[in-house]
Amino acid sequence: PAAVIVGIDGPSGTGKSSTSKAVAAKLGLRYLDTGAQYRAITWWMLSNGIDVDDATAVAEAAGKPEIVSGTDPSAPTIVVDGADAAGPIRTQEVTSAVSAVSAVPEIRTRLTELQRAIAAEAPHGIVVEGRDIGTTVLPDADVKIFLTASPEARAARRSGELKGKEATDLAATQAALVKRDAADSGRKTSPLAKADDAVEVDTTELTLDQVIECVVTLVEEKR
Ligand code: C5P
Repeated sequence: PAAVIVGIDGPSGTGKSSTSKAVAAKLGLRYLDTGAQYRAITWWMLSNGIDVDDATAVAEAAGKPEIVSGTDPSAPTIVVDGADAAGPIRTQEVTSAVSAVSAVPEIRTRLTELQRAIAAEAPHGIVVEGRDIGTTVLPDADVKIFLTASPEARAARRSGELKGKEATDLAATQAALVKRDAADSGRKTSPLAKADDAVEVDTTELTLDQVIECVVTLVEEKR
């Protein structure tokens, strides 16, 4: 079959990463986590003393770090200027700063180009997850999915992931998620949004396996 391009968007804590990786593995596709790229560039800014709230400084540095994404769904990688960034991009410091960096148009232009190039090179196709894949990065994707879930469900899933890593309580996690989603939805350049032709899947009452099954079925129908 021809290469199939799948875009999976939605707010944080809806199961985008787990779903995207599993769907890609099942169907023999590559996998790209665009959020990891925004986090990686944010980590580089913080590490290089750039004030993430200074949009001019962020824009000037947008082209500087080299970012390499490994697209094997069973072992995705993210490397910044030769350094493994998988750990540092998940810290609270990066999570708090990423929305400001990702709102800068020069950052979005740079990463959108990179994401399109990676998708074009995937031999059998790719599952790309993010916030603006269906609307902006890959508007001609064969399958577009928009995952949602109640804020309570999203916070519960996210604190489950963080357990043991960083002390967290449910209310604080929920507040941080809601704040980040509001920033991502409210920015001017390619905000978090459902594409008109995306299929919306509310995952609140579904298990991960049910969501995976649902997306696999949608992709197989298009193949
Ligand atoms: O998916 P994840 O939570 O790792 O994404 C981190 C942040 O990266 C988001 O909150 C958003 O600010 C940014 N992002 C984006 N566009 C994408 C993917 C992520 O702006 N396509």
